[in-house]
Amino acid sequence: MTAAVDQLNRPLRDLRISLADRCNFRCVYCMPKEIFGSPAHFLPSEDTLTADELLTVVRAMAPLGVHKVRLTGGEPLLRRDIVPLIEGLAGIHGIDDVALTTNGSLLTGERAHALRSTGLSRITVSLDSLDPERFGRINGVGFGADRVLRAIEQADGAGFRPVKINVVVKRGMNDEDIVPLAEHFRFSGHIVRFIEYMDVGNSNGWTPEEVVSAREILERISGWWPLHALEQAYFGEVATRYGYDDGGGEIGIIASVTQPFCRSCTRARLAADGRLFLCLFANQGMSLRDILRRGGTEGDIQDAVAGLWQHRSDRYSERRGRGDTPGHRIEMFQMGG
Ligand code: GTP
Ligand code: 5AD
Ligand code: SF4
Ligand code: SF4
Repeated sequence: MTAAVDQLNRPLRDLRISLADRCNFRCVYCMPKEIFGSPAHFLPSEDTLTADELLTVVRAMAPLGVHKVRLTGGEPLLRRDIVPLIEGLAGIHGIDDVALTTNGSLLTGERAHALRSTGLSRITVSLDSLDPERFGRINGVGFGADRVLRAIEQADGAGFRPVKINVVVKRGMNDEDIVPLAEHFRFSGHIVRFIEYMDVGNSNGWTPEEVVSAREILERISGWWPLHALEQAYFGEVATRYGYDDGGGEIGIIASVTQPFCRSCTRARLAADGRLFLCLFANQGMSLRDILRRGGTEGDIQDAVAGLWQHRSDRYSERRGRGDTPGHRIEMFQMGG
């Protein structure tokens, strides 16, 4: 089987899997609690892909070029079978990187060690503020920033270093946290990544005025501690890297709004219900679950994905604002941010 390449000559390299559409947080920019209060918004468990089904999909996609799998959600640690699942994923021929993005709330030391010993390579933890009151308001459930900081330390203690810390920056929400977060993680060995607030999904009421640009983020931090640009770590990396001149480590900035990176986008996304999406802003996905539950084989999945990827021409972020983009979109927590 040869590696899949799309209409813009982009190879398929990464698969992002939403393990569960549920989350115990209600972040204002993702799953605002006014909208997502009732369980009716979420999948019944029988509609979620099982671990066996997930492994079949990844085995089918590895020969097409997928070498990196990122587990997201919703909150992926809500999946009880996550440890055997990671063990299965890490054992698939061709998969050399299994990473996890979590809100950290369920990441105990014991859990972190279990994840490490089954083959998880890397952990990213989301944390938007160090201020207890503000963080509690942002996550919608009053969860303490100190508890997420502890989870980051637990991950470190289990051997995940550097931990990456994702910060979605939204004006008026946490722009005053940029500098304190940078300061907190300087010289820690961990990497904070500031993410421009995006218009994903249909529920966060995004406006362009609320985006704090990569440029502004960089200016604010380098006003305190001078930074220099670093080389990309790998082709298609979404974060632009900067190092502190004084040796304090590095940060990343993800400028998906002001400097879109569609041209090197090698990511497919598998939603918790088994639909495969080829862009974060897609409104349609192909149900791999239906293929599997109708008796389809690994080969059938491989053919379906190869065909789909070949026809892919998505580049939403480059087209944003030109008016030729889909109206209704799937939510980020459903398809695996
Ligand atoms: P590394 O593997 O460590 O480089 O991280 P990653 O690129 O997998 O990063 P992560 O999953 O933490 O993504 C960080 C954020 O970048 C996501 O939460 C999104 O906000 C944004 N992002 C990631 N991929 C895409 C993409 O394909 N398109 C857009 N528009 N944004 C993306
Ligand atoms: N804009 C940018 N990033 C977002 N995430 C969720 N919603 C948005 C948004 N509107 C990020 C979270 C987390 C990852 C799962 O997705 O911060 O790091
Ligand atoms: Fe949950 Fe992550 Fe969405 Fe927050 S951003 S509601 S932690 S899935
Ligand atoms: Fe890839 Fe779509 Fe994001 Fe562009 S907007 S980088 S095509 S996921």
